[in-house]
Amino acid sequence: MAQGKIGPPLDRMRERAYLAGGLPNTPENLTRWIRFPKEVKQDSAMPELGVGSQEAKHIAAYLYTLR
Ligand code: HEM
Repeated sequence: MAQGKIGPPLDRMRERAYLAGGLPNTPENLTRWIRFPKEVKQDSAMPELGVGSQEAKHIAAYLYTLR
């Protein structure tokens, strides 16, 4: 089985100015990215994960705790 990395590391999200290359890193945009990556960036390799809006907020809040 292939063991390649696909997405970027998700630590230090709070220090990043942009998400996925061009989307300003705000809580709203991070939550939107987690739910609908292809709406933000059509050719992204990140799939839609079927995450609900509350769940996406929790994931975003968690990611902002990572140092
Ligand atoms: C709950 C699961 C996931 C979360 C919370 C998540 C979160 C994120 C976040 C926050 C970014 C933006 C990072 C940045 O550029 O600053 C990102 C990017 C990305 N993710 Fe995910 N991701 C998840 C699952 C996946 C999966 C399953 C894949 C692929 C199989 C994937 C592939 C990617 C790729 C390729 C990018 C780069 C974005 C681009 O420029 O196209 N992600 N992810």
